Amino acid sequence: MIHTLTLNPALDKTVVIPNFQVDTVNRIVSLRLDPGGKGINVSKVIKKMGGTSRATALLGGSSGQQIIQMLEQLGIQVDYVEIPGQTRTNLKIIDPVQGTNTDINEPGPELSAEQAIFVFSHFVRQLHPNDIVVLAGSVPKGAQPDIYAQYVEKCRELGTKVFLDADGELLAKGIRATPYLVKPNRDELSRLVKRPLQTLEEIKAAACSLLQDGIQKVVVSLGGKGAMYVTKDTCLYAPALSVPVGSTVGAGDSVVAALALAEEQGLSPEDTLKLATATGAANVMCSGTQAADMEQIQVLLPKVRCQLL
Ligand SMILES: Nc1ncnc2c1ncn2[C@@H]1O[C@H](COP(=O)(O)OP(=O)(O)OP(=O)(O)O)[C@@H](O)[C@H]1O
Ligand SMILES: [Mg+2]
Repeated sequence: MIHTLTLNPALDKTVVIPNFQVDTVNRIVSLRLDPGGKGINVSKVIKKMGGTSRATALLGGSSGQQIIQMLEQLGIQVDYVEIPGQTRTNLKIIDPVQGTNTDINEPGPELSAEQAIFVFSHFVRQLHPNDIVVLAGSVPKGAQPDIYAQYVEKCRELGTKVFLDADGELLAKGIRATPYLVKPNRDELSRLVKRPLQTLEEIKAAACSLLQDGIQKVVVSLGGKGAMYVTKDTCLYAPALSVPVGSTVGAGDSVVAALALAEEQGLSPEDTLKLATATGAANVMCSGTQAADMEQIQVLLPKVRCQLL
């Protein structure tokens, strides 16, 4: 079973406003609401790919209730801990005329130390050895920077495989607790190793340095340049597929979803990287935070080329 945990979920409100201007009245021509936050996004992609996962989130207020309903409508098993206050609503303004995307994000409720412990004890109750745990995304204000490190350690003790997708201190501290897999993008990896990463050789060296800490798999996503998959036995690189770009938002989350499914199905490193690359490309072709269909991923899959580095 795959379990995702989202400490900082959001109700994503995407509006289309042609010729969006500040300091004037703007008219919305279309509006959609989606449950968001990195762990939730991973669960949505897994569902679209025909897999199952359990999505656990901290949710509050009417926006929290809407997220629960929407996830249930999508057929995703949702588990939540109710918190005081409203889950944040993040506004995304898409202007198709000027080609701009403007995000206006609410701060959201703060997380207390008690809540951090409570949600996690709730989460771990359903874990079994060899389950896959996805810890992804930012954390609410008030959370300690070693929160993922603590969670990784406990999940590891329970015999689960932890996938960590985070940035900054959350990633730096989380890594010291030895997750099973990490999926930084190039900038996140660069910040982690504190040096610029330009060439594939430099990226490979940085990824390999993480393996020395006991991490089994490092997948570095490189946006429009593709992705690299590194274990102690192999280093594979797949260039990105050339596809029409709808939105790159959540491309990384779709890669994490593909990696989790590939792990669950015991795919080879090559097939894993190919699936992740096809899934990334298929999701980039979609607009907003919508997830791609498995049929689209299947169409792209044979086009992915993988090379040994
Ligand atoms: N322009 C693009 N064309 C084709 N594929 C892309 C493009 N951008 C991203 N991808 C695919 O999606 C994958 C993940 O993208 P990226 O490295 O941008 O993730 P990320 O920075 O973690 O994104 P986020 O955290 O915003 O979801 C890439 O490895 C690639 O396979
Ligand atoms: Mg990312």
